[in-house]
Amino acid sequence: MSAISDQTLKSVLESAISRVAEARDAKELDEIRVAFLGKKGLVTEQMKRLGTLPPEERKTFGAQVNEAKNGVEDAIKKRGAELESLRYADLAEKEWIDVTVPGEPVKRGHLNPISQIQYELEDIFTSLGFAVVDGPHVETEFNNFEALNIPADHPARDMQDTFWTEDGNLLRTHTSCMQIRAMQRMKPPMRLIAPGRVFRYEATDASHENTFYQMEGLMIDRNISVSNLIHFMKTLLREIFKRDVKIRLRPGYFPFVEPGFELDINCLICGGSGCPVCKQSGWVELLPCGLVHPNVLKNVGIDPSEFTGFAFGLGLNRLVMMRYGIDDIRHFLSGDVRFVEQF
Ligand code: PHE
Repeated sequence: MSAISDQTLKSVLESAISRVAEARDAKELDEIRVAFLGKKGLVTEQMKRLGTLPPEERKTFGAQVNEAKNGVEDAIKKRGAELESLRYADLAEKEWIDVTVPGEPVKRGHLNPISQIQYELEDIFTSLGFAVVDGPHVETEFNNFEALNIPADHPARDMQDTFWTEDGNLLRTHTSCMQIRAMQRMKPPMRLIAPGRVFRYEATDASHENTFYQMEGLMIDRNISVSNLIHFMKTLLREIFKRDVKIRLRPGYFPFVEPGFELDINCLICGGSGCPVCKQSGWVELLPCGLVHPNVLKNVGIDPSEFTGFAFGLGLNRLVMMRYGIDDIRHFLSGDVRFVEQF
């Protein structure tokens, strides 16, 4: 192609090339394109000059204008590509991410130790063929007392100070009410546990709470005797404490069992030689239990001459306190995460 000889065109081209080379971003580059190649651009103006030239000059000039136009277009394209790769280089510099850096540790929540022991117990008992049942916190007087052989004027009601609701119901004072619900719903033979919250109108101290946890156990079948009860209790304790635990039964009074017992375990802290935990006796009172009272069976329509059963009421707070050496029952519902984080 012929070299551009027209001075004006030459200087337009030179200024376009140098401005394109200096453009700092796509926007600026586009402004330059408009200034030179747009409808009123400097190169376009040169094209318009074509018509004013004498015919013999037109051909050469026309070729030169085209050359200039192509030159500006090429320069813009080249600079555009340059700017684009600079932009990516810049992004890579400023916004790079090291995907090999280990992540922030995720803070996990904690199960309250009561829930942990409840789930363990559920595993143990379901493996022994027991069903897990549940019931409401607000109970009827019938389920919580009457059906359990504790009539209104019975002194045993004083053993469990009660929160009453205004409509004559109550917050269940023990999980034994779930025995009644279960026996009304199911037919013997049956084996079940019923863990849950219970409530007592209680002045609180290190060993008393107004809200705590129990797990009821109930087994009804033909010929159930105290030896069945002892067998299941020993299995339970072996699984929980991971060793053979010595037990003893003392008579205990609960209107819904006959005979009723307090089951004690050999103190696991001192091995029975005497320590502050067992108050030097070598034994720790762990769970009340007994054979289901015939009146209770009658109250739910089960024939006591055909079926017998055992029941026990495990205090879950006590069990956890024994296992971890916790000195105050009020920690459980304190809401203090430092407490639950230890387990
Ligand atoms: N429900 C009784 C209580 O809370 C415990 C218990 C349960 C006793 C089952 C005997 C049998 O004190």
